[in-house]
Amino acid sequence: MTKKIPMLLLILVGAAGLAFFSAVPVSHSQPEPEGYAGANACAMCHSELTAGWKTTRHARAFDTLKKKSQEKLPACVKCHVVGFEKPGGYVDQELTPELAGVQCESCHGPAAAHAANPANKKGLIDPGEKTCRECHTPGQDPKFDYAGKKRFVHGESGKGGVK
Ligand code: HEC
Ligand code: HEC
Ligand code: HEC
Ligand code: HEC
Repeated sequence: MTKKIPMLLLILVGAAGLAFFSAVPVSHSQPEPEGYAGANACAMCHSELTAGWKTTRHARAFDTLKKKSQEKLPACVKCHVVGFEKPGGYVDQELTPELAGVQCESCHGPAAAHAANPANKKGLIDPGEKTCRECHTPGQDPKFDYAGKKRFVHGESGKGGVK
């Protein structure tokens, strides 16, 4: 036990020294982004879907809370934003204004890594009725009809696909 401590110290000091010297000359590649990016980051490639989504009530869900002066109440905010209380998700209007409203990533999952590198689908969710039911709960929305409503998620046109 007593011998382990100085040994550990040596290793730590050595590692710190190595990290210091290697950090100077080597140019590291950008760390991969994590968490949520917000719908503006999707528009560049998914322009038609984004334009359609903007016409939906989901896109205005935060304004709805503002009209009721309930936009700071966590009990309301949680279903009217992206990724509330999830890593990298909505915190408040000061820190994460770009994640207000029900957006792409409320249904598709955190997509910052995918937006930076489209081939990366890690973290993306294939949304189904269960996804909607996180917010359209029996208590909140007793008459929710998945089959009838899912075609409106990207706007009235019901279009999908990558543009
Ligand atoms: C730089 C361009 C680009 C950006 C930015 C981008 N995507 Fe994509 N996305 C693509 C391409 C290309 C595909 C099709 C990939 C394929 O089929 O292999 C795709 C596919 C998808 C899919 C379907 C995944 C699947 O399993 O087929 C979803 C969902 C998606 N994107 C969501 C998003 C969201 C949400 C954002 C914004 C946070 C976003 N994308 C940003 C290019 C992009
Ligand atoms: C993060 C929470 C959340 C998720 C997930 C979610 N919704 Fe919503 N949805 C809302 C909120 C909040 C509103 C009300 C927005 C407003 O009017 O301000 C709404 C409104 C709607 C509306 C318009 C009102 C109505 O009842 O006709 C439709 C349609 C809808 N959602 C469909 C869906 C479908 C389909 C899914 C799943 C594929 C889904 N939603 C997933 C929160 C969510
Ligand atoms: C469990 C998720 C959830 C929570 C929590 C939640 N909402 Fe919503 N809210 C929804 C969904 C889903 C809709 C759309 C379906 C509907 O109209 O019920 C909606 C719709 C609304 C609407 C539009 C209703 C209409 O008919 O025009 C208002 C206003 C609203 N919510 C305010 C609030 C307020 C205020 C709170 C906090 C007291 C709150 N919400 C908490 C999910 C939620
Ligand atoms: C309310 C939930 C919801 C929202 C918000 C939403 N989507 Fe979707 N998205 C879905 C569902 C559900 C499907 C699968 C549709 C199906 O299977 O018919 C889908 C499918 C897709 C696909 C695959 C389409 C295809 O035909 O290959 C892409 C890409 C996509 N969405 C991107 C986006 C982008 C970008 C946004 C935001 C601008 C967005 N979605 C907003 C629920 C949503």
